[in-house]
Amino acid sequence: MQKKLIIAIDGHSSCGKSTVAKDLAKELGYVYIDTGAMYRSVTLFAMRNGFIADGTIDEKQLSAHLNAIKITFKYQPEEKKNETFLNGESVEDAIRGLEVSQNVSAVSALGFVRRRLVELQQEMGIEGGIVMDGRDIGTVVFPKAELKLFMTASPEIRAQRRYDELIAKGEPVNFQEILENVKYRDHQDSTRKESPLMQADDAVVLDNSHLNKEEQLLWIMKKMDERGLSKQ
Ligand code: DC
Repeated sequence: MQKKLIIAIDGHSSCGKSTVAKDLAKELGYVYIDTGAMYRSVTLFAMRNGFIADGTIDEKQLSAHLNAIKITFKYQPEEKKNETFLNGESVEDAIRGLEVSQNVSAVSALGFVRRRLVELQQEMGIEGGIVMDGRDIGTVVFPKAELKLFMTASPEIRAQRRYDELIAKGEPVNFQEILENVKYRDHQDSTRKESPLMQADDAVVLDNSHLNKEEQLLWIMKKMDERGLSKQ
């Protein structure tokens, strides 16, 4: 039987990592794990329990309650989407809200949070057959992953995609502000002390500035072929 691989996808914010990861998991019949959703769930848990006030985190309390956090994923076939559960409750919408988005960078910079989530992520991948996306998957979580992709696209293109998404949702947004936010998050992700976003030496760089969904999947399948990783 074909060995079940571990595929690590890292890269900047808003460059479509989750779209690629989902498409690839579907193509290969693998499980998709969104590690950003895990950091977002811990953030939501901390907010709901009053461990974050005005952007300040009560690290002692969060650390003391970390083991009470259970995060699971379920694929919902009717909606064709992955749903994230925090202690049994679906939080898929709640973790995408503005308040969680504003606090998640600070929570994901905490060493004790990262150590715990990395441990959980490694357990999830123990049998292979997963596509996991995040910022430190190919460098810290699975340094021996069979395939590592590092995704990027120009800040302007990522900002434009984010702008189009928000406009489609009817939100009044300003392109310049979004562009500044994209650049700010790149800086935060790449310069934080704990596991900064870094390209693994053996990662394949996928710049999807000018590729659509289908083209990027084909591009990856070709890379897998070249490396002898495709299904027989
Ligand atoms: O991919 P995302 O935007 O849902 O990620 C949310 C936040 O979590 C973002 O600030 C980066 C951080 N993150 C991280 O530090 N490490 C990961 N493996 C995944 C996400």
